Amino acid sequence: MNDKKRKILVTSALPYANGPIHLGHMVEYLQTDIWVRFQKLNGNDCKYVCASDAHGTPIMLKARELGITPEDLTQKISADFICDFSEFGVEFDNYYTTHSIENEELVSEIFSNLQKSDEIYTKKIEQSYDEKEGMFLPDRFVRGTCPRCKTEDQPGDACEICGTTNTPETLINPISVLSKTTPTKRKSEHYFFRLSAHKKRIQEWMRSATLDKNITSKLNEWFDAGLNDWDISRDEPYFGFKIPGTKNKYFYVWLDAPIGYMASFKNLCNKDKSIDFNEYWNADSTTELYHFIGKDIMYFHMLFWPAVLKGAGFRAPSSIFAHGFLTVNGKKMSKSRGTFIKARTYLDNLNPEYLRYYYAAKLGSSIEDLDLNLEDFAARVNSDLVGKLINIASRCAGFINKEFQNKLSSSLPDLDLFSKFSDSSDEISQYFESREYSKAIRKIMLLADLANRYIDTNKPWVLIKDEENKIKVQEICTQGLNMFRSLIIYLSPVNPMIAKKSKEFFNEKNWQWSDASTPLLNKELAKFSPLLTRVDHKQVNSLIDKSNDI
Ligand code: 2FM
Ligand code: ZN
Repeated sequence: MNDKKRKILVTSALPYANGPIHLGHMVEYLQTDIWVRFQKLNGNDCKYVCASDAHGTPIMLKARELGITPEDLTQKISADFICDFSEFGVEFDNYYTTHSIENEELVSEIFSNLQKSDEIYTKKIEQSYDEKEGMFLPDRFVRGTCPRCKTEDQPGDACEICGTTNTPETLINPISVLSKTTPTKRKSEHYFFRLSAHKKRIQEWMRSATLDKNITSKLNEWFDAGLNDWDISRDEPYFGFKIPGTKNKYFYVWLDAPIGYMASFKNLCNKDKSIDFNEYWNADSTTELYHFIGKDIMYFHMLFWPAVLKGAGFRAPSSIFAHGFLTVNGKKMSKSRGTFIKARTYLDNLNPEYLRYYYAAKLGSSIEDLDLNLEDFAARVNSDLVGKLINIASRCAGFINKEFQNKLSSSLPDLDLFSKFSDSSDEISQYFESREYSKAIRKIMLLADLANRYIDTNKPWVLIKDEENKIKVQEICTQGLNMFRSLIIYLSPVNPMIAKKSKEFFNEKNWQWSDASTPLLNKELAKFSPLLTRVDHKQVNSLIDKSNDI
């Protein structure tokens, strides 16, 4: 690894604070958390920030329906998010909200910079209007018959059956979902960002950001289709930030949401004066900035966001990492199949370390979808994580505790074998760095097989019967536990809770990635307690039953 400590800022997409976190969301937060933990384990200065996405029409309407303010709604939901994330071991350096003073100030600074550089203009446009509700309707709030496939009750943005891009205007018999009346048309003045002028700059950014090839081809499709200027304003009623100098216009949620990444970081800087906001965000910043996102929000992050940042005089992201969607048992998550699994329901039934392991075992760096097959989930956790890896420690620890007063021997009997574990450090490290977690897990499990084979061959449980062999047993178990220790250090970004317990067993305070390459000898260990139990099928069934109840 490079000796120079990198300064890295990492974000996950900001979840909308109008519904619960589910296992689909967790793909991203776990993917990011693993990467951040890996960076920290390597001694890099890596900060991970996130926030609740608090603005927009759906949140305004949901709060209205519940008879509370949007502020109260988003605060309550954010508190639930924080509990869910923390129980899953997702460790943010800061979790905030987009409805914050820091965000409002940054949004207005960026807007004013964009105005000064002539990136913003206004234009009157005509939109669907609900006369009964007295509001303009976002496209998804108008439904009607798809003009192409003639399916009824399709949203005003894209047909869910044939995929055609629609607008409320192209739908046949459009109806407002709010009042069930036919929308009228009204004109109003809107603020536009000149995205079309940014094509070259975005293309330059694309080249420097080394993006996945599927992402690059998607971006090229968008360039070929032509970039339209971006409407960044909404009329009242709206829950968001008012546009300075206007009476009744608000910034569109998708303008202030990514700025929320900066605002959460700013809030962290306000709390920790040793971090310099400008060092991370100035146009000439030499720090690294990465956004982890889902493939559905690439347009916002790969086109609008770098263009807005550059246009307003800030740095652009170093890269953006997009992942695919989660399917459960091969299908889209579904409430009726009991596969729309909330993070809370999972946590009430199963150990979060299982899911962290399973997702890592299936995640690569591409935008391919990831399937949570519940049978395979239980089988893999039981046979690999518990049966292979954790078992190495269970097979050796008892002897050291009982027969050798918890003490490891002063040398390893098979240095060549141990060097296979230490020599794998760079390969596994490279897999984590490039988000090829499934490859890292595969390599760790191959090494676990070697460790188990060593114990099988040396049979400490047989040797211990003869007093003469005692020292040999201590050495064999020291070898076994050291191989286990290296593997748990490698796995610690994925399974921090198992790693914490293991570290306590080894009586060690902090682990660094490089510690996996140096054996622990002559050391007094703590008493071993089981690190993880097998997945019980009853727990999985209960998870499905409880997910059916919602
Ligand atoms: O798609 C979503 O769930 C958005 N709330 C993500 C926002 S990410 C960022 F831009 F803030
Ligand atoms: Zn259609």
